[in-house]
Amino acid sequence: MNTLVVDQVSKIYGEGDQQVKALDQVSLEVASDELLLLMGPSGSGKTTLLTISGALLRPTDGSIQVGGSELTKLDDKELSKFRNDKIGFVFQAVNLIPFLTARENLLVVRSLGGGKVDAGAKKRAEELLDELGLGSKGDNLPSQLSGGQQQRVAIGRALMNEPAMLLIDEPTSALDSELGRQVMELIRDEVKNRDIAGIVVTHDERVLDFGDRIVEMVDGKIT
Ligand SMILES: Nc1ncnc2c1ncn2[C@@H]1O[C@H](COP(=O)(O)OP(=O)(O)O)[C@@H](O)[C@H]1O
Ligand SMILES: [Mg+2]
Repeated sequence: MNTLVVDQVSKIYGEGDQQVKALDQVSLEVASDELLLLMGPSGSGKTTLLTISGALLRPTDGSIQVGGSELTKLDDKELSKFRNDKIGFVFQAVNLIPFLTARENLLVVRSLGGGKVDAGAKKRAEELLDELGLGSKGDNLPSQLSGGQQQRVAIGRALMNEPAMLLIDEPTSALDSELGRQVMELIRDEVKNRDIAGIVVTHDERVLDFGDRIVEMVDGKIT
């Protein structure tokens, strides 16, 4: 249903002799209900692949389909709607809204997506905070949370609108083993229970058993 198909995608940053080929004809398919772990050294193109799959960046070449729609054919406005409606994205650098509490950071994406902050939304936010081990932190501002806690709020925010695809850059690097597993379990449950495609970029050997498949990137190519 919401399968992700990446077909012969290349990405070149910069111009002239400043050019960097971040992705070199990458092809990859992630089934709906599949959790893919993406590994590989720093600079190998993992974040670029995630960003292009999440419609935040256009490829230089190739095609991307999500649930059958071709992303490269959408104009900027359609792309931004697609992103808001369909994608749950967690960046490496957590970007919470600093003047909103943890709970409000979750609820605000409901209104941004055009939805209502009703009892259902509040229940979802509360459940996500609980499952992320943040049940008692709902009223805290980001500045009153540790790095790992902020990262978990960002994961809750990505899940809030029940996305059709989940793209997460290094969710467990700042977490101890138990929390890391708890967070991966939540991500895995979300992928399996709601039949969505998920990609998690990770270097964390401790969470490898949560993935259905592991793909490694080197120098902009899948090995
Ligand atoms: N916005 C950008 N402008 C220019 N080069 C970039 C940009 N983003 C990434 N790169 C380069 O593209 C390559 C792949 O980067 P990235 O996708 O961030 O890899 P990874 O996430 O695996 O560390 C690297 O050589 C990086 O320096
Ligand atoms: Mg990266």
